[in-house]
Amino acid sequence: MIAKLVIDKKREGHALGSAEIREFIEGFTAGDIPDYQMSALAMAICCRGMTERETADLTDAMMRSGRCLEWNLDAPTADKHSTGGVGDKLSLVIQPLAAACGLAVPSLTGRGLGLTGGTADKLETIPGYNASLSLDDFSKTVAEAGVSMTVQTDEITPADKKLYALRDVTGTVASIPLITASILSKKLAEGAGTLVFDVKCGAGAFMKTREDALALAKSLVGGAKAAGRRSAALVTDMNAPLGAAVGNANEVAEALAILRGEIDQSRADVGLCIELAALMVSLARETTLDDARKMCRERLADGSAMEKFSAMVKSQGGDLDRFERMMHEPVSKFRVQSMRHGVVAAIDAEKVARVAFRLGAGREKAGDRIDPRAGVTLSVAAGDKVSLGAPLATLERSGGPDGLEAAAAELLKAFTIVPSPIERRGLILERVE
Ligand code: URA
Repeated sequence: MIAKLVIDKKREGHALGSAEIREFIEGFTAGDIPDYQMSALAMAICCRGMTERETADLTDAMMRSGRCLEWNLDAPTADKHSTGGVGDKLSLVIQPLAAACGLAVPSLTGRGLGLTGGTADKLETIPGYNASLSLDDFSKTVAEAGVSMTVQTDEITPADKKLYALRDVTGTVASIPLITASILSKKLAEGAGTLVFDVKCGAGAFMKTREDALALAKSLVGGAKAAGRRSAALVTDMNAPLGAAVGNANEVAEALAILRGEIDQSRADVGLCIELAALMVSLARETTLDDARKMCRERLADGSAMEKFSAMVKSQGGDLDRFERMMHEPVSKFRVQSMRHGVVAAIDAEKVARVAFRLGAGREKAGDRIDPRAGVTLSVAAGDKVSLGAPLATLERSGGPDGLEAAAAELLKAFTIVPSPIERRGLILERVE
């Protein structure tokens, strides 16, 4: 394989052969193919696209660039991946809920870069929680607690790590085949037999349009099935934040409230947790979706999902009592109030996330410190009536109150309040099975 000829071929719009793709990725991972040739191929893929077969080959080559886990457990294995959104703490509920329904859930997750923290950042606000397990300890936790959430190690898909760093600086992130191979190679290497995807769409999401989100969902599900896994996806709305909390520790507190049954199952975000967990259960256990939904509702209500979450936290060194005490420690707060009577028509997820970031909830570059208590907690949802002076949200952060008032003025711009009622819309936009 001559790298330049492979780049030429893709630039001219031809499909690459399986061996060409495999050898290119092997060469890049080993350092034999330089970054500039990989970047050129990524740009050619961006411009010319890839067939389903090429995308599957690219995914497979990237998956094989590192360690691939295998599970020999009695329970069927499954995981859920979200493309990420504002206030998206759903994994903290869905993964233990699926475990409570008899699945083994190995979930390699990420730290956030940008406006808000990732699932690992949220979990790490629980004092003692180790989100950097070795793969052996990860396997042990899944076997013992039924579920584990930890950061992906460098042993998994090193080709993706190297390639993503290049794509980030060469304008080659926005390509469905490259995004599919990146996400899917990591999830396939994790070894779960069932993979469910929550592809977010809207102002607060990576995919801004419904068409792009649907194309990615189809590509992920098609790729997972081509690799022999059971798979389905939902395309879900991410124009407003999910739930009330946007931050890190406050999101964990909200997830705990859902797991403890303190938030009604009819709330949209709780309903989405049930729907995604039910998809995992129905695919992995070969039951109807209705039976799986019923089981998920019961296991959430009877505390079994909370037990699974507690078992995982304990097994990974975390202390939920200390977390509760931490949440009672004083922080600086500022309340945002409505400037008019009316109905909340929209809450701009991206604007809320920018304010949470400004308070310290996200990191600009890898290694930056996150303030676990920084964030925004909404008091209203789209469709709610508000009166003049009614609370819309509370801003919080550790340390002094400097800057909170200015951040509150920014946050106010996230709310659109209109005089007449609006139609409440559900979160699920599309289903891909
Ligand atoms: N998330 C990933 O892991 N990879 C991409 O390419 C885009 C989003």
